Amino acid sequence: MHDQWSFQTKLIHNKHKVDTTTGAVSVAIQQASTFHQQTLDESPEFDYSRSGNPTRKALEEAIAELEGGVRGFAFASGMAAISTAFLLLSSGDHVLVTEDVYGGTYRIVADVLSRFGIEYTFVDMTDLDAVKANIRPNTKVIYIETPSNPLLKVTDIRAIVQLAKENGCLTFVDNTFMTPALQRPLDLGADIVLHSATKFLAGHSDCLAGLAVVKDEKLGEELYKLQNAFGAVLGPHDCWLVLRGLKTLHVRLDQSVKTASQLAEFLKKHPAIKKVYYPGLHDHPGSDIHLRQSVNGGAVLSFELEDEKAVKILADHVQLPVFAVSLGAVESILSYPAKMSHAAMPKEERIKRGITDGLLRLSVGLENFEDLKNDLESGLSTVLAYQ
Ligand SMILES: Cc1ncc(COP(=O)(O)O)c(C=O)c1O
Repeated sequence: MHDQWSFQTKLIHNKHKVDTTTGAVSVAIQQASTFHQQTLDESPEFDYSRSGNPTRKALEEAIAELEGGVRGFAFASGMAAISTAFLLLSSGDHVLVTEDVYGGTYRIVADVLSRFGIEYTFVDMTDLDAVKANIRPNTKVIYIETPSNPLLKVTDIRAIVQLAKENGCLTFVDNTFMTPALQRPLDLGADIVLHSATKFLAGHSDCLAGLAVVKDEKLGEELYKLQNAFGAVLGPHDCWLVLRGLKTLHVRLDQSVKTASQLAEFLKKHPAIKKVYYPGLHDHPGSDIHLRQSVNGGAVLSFELEDEKAVKILADHVQLPVFAVSLGAVESILSYPAKMSHAAMPKEERIKRGITDGLLRLSVGLENFEDLKNDLESGLSTVLAYQ
């Protein structure tokens, strides 16, 4: 890959753009579990698809280049990637995790790793003093998600990396919301970048996938061993879907981010809305830090209505966004954290974190801005009429 090319160009022109055996302008889907060995003594590059598969290799190399790492790994889901990365820890180790982490990550840390003697603390990562105070002698990993879900809280990646380095810990960053198009945590010093590639990277609500990228060969070897041992690898067809999604990542994000920032401004002024959370807005408390470590505010925003009744009216009236979990797709997706991503959290705990019964999250897709605005405006007028 040519270093002088922009990210936009690199998405299309990577080393797998043309199949070297057939000339096909698409990576071949090697739907094989095993590979014929010509001789007894041969040790071929591919022998069994859990250990390695050519389509998976193409995706793993593509994401490694895009994130600025040395090695990439593709998994069956974002949770498979995250869980496998946590297998780097051993009994007696401690992990410090951002308080408003994705629910599935919360579950693997609190309900599963804890059964294997791995200690954890959840902490508000926007408060560096709190992070510092919670680092223990056995802390091995600091785990960040920025911007976080669903309140788009911003963590200063550089500052956390510095604290981690001072204390001999690794930094893991879940980069699902930003993607390497907008934020490259390895360049800021992080050790492992994780993705739910189900979201923006694949981008079409049609496959589940997870990715991990490291910038250190030795860490790469350790993660490879775990990927092969645990076996939660991504199948060849889904690797191909992610590779195809990657080609349009730049244009999709360009469009969605533009619309998201216009919608954030529109929603901010609407009388039915109590609050808008979007790190691209200058009055967002983390916007300065966010814009120092990312290109722009991204394509996800949250907003707060009066109460659950208002949410129900809006959800019943809008016609464009699908009302669903997930994000980062061609179609806009409206989610209700209280009953979706954070349903498992006790209400008191949820409200304490600012995830109220009136909070909605909108992942902005590729629809026309005016159409989306008109759709939301009409739903919000109905909300006002009932209040
Ligand atoms: C930020 C974040 N990380 C990880 C995950 C888990 O990914 P997956 O659903 O692909 O397992 C999600 C899923 O919603 C997510 O939003």
